[in-house]
Amino acid sequence: MTLIAPSLLSADFMRLADEVRAVEEAGADWLHLDVMDGHFVPNLTFGPPLIAALRPLTRLPLDVHLMIEHPERSLEAYVRAGADRVTIHAESTVHVQRALAAIRALGAAAGLAVCPATPLEWLVDLRDDLDQVLVMSVNPGFGGQAFLPATWDRLRRLRGLLAGREVLTVVDGGVAQDNAADLAAAGVDVLVAGSAVFGQLDRRAAIASLRG
Ligand code: DX5
Ligand code: ZN
Repeated sequence: MTLIAPSLLSADFMRLADEVRAVEEAGADWLHLDVMDGHFVPNLTFGPPLIAALRPLTRLPLDVHLMIEHPERSLEAYVRAGADRVTIHAESTVHVQRALAAIRALGAAAGLAVCPATPLEWLVDLRDDLDQVLVMSVNPGFGGQAFLPATWDRLRRLRGLLAGREVLTVVDGGVAQDNAADLAAAGVDVLVAGSAVFGQLDRRAAIASLRG
């Protein structure tokens, strides 16, 4: 079954506690938290204090997507704040393997995100260090962007690279009701969806239709 991870980026920031409870009640599997630093991506969101404030509100696993430079400097702060899963970007540090190992040593699941222009082959020698691979299907930074069609071929190649491994495939960006079934058929384990969940009044129906 495909897991659905609503991205809080598209929630009403004035009503975050209600928004988190609403998607939990509506059947979300994970809560996806987009951390942006205004450097790695041209947008700025939130950091460990907000995650720590959300932590007691929900039992959903917190899936933290770090779109920040030098992620290795703050991994401990994110795990202490309550992150269950931490994904760093392949393009954000030279020492990717060290950072992934550090995430696991802190007790969280380790993820690697790849931007649309990043060769998937970068992760070949990291397969044993990974719990999940996040394939960006838009250029990171903003919610509500259109799904890039080149993602389909990337997912096909990723399937080959991860064959026989227990590594989850996550897709993030432009996921909506019109491509969710094809993504599941392409072997995607986790669908991250911002506007396709928080942009809908009926969150339960939105999540159910993404799950297919
Ligand atoms: C994009 C973020 C996504 C974003 C997805 O940089 O990583 O998680 O919130 O938003 P939608 O689903 O609206 O494309
Ligand atoms: Zn994200």
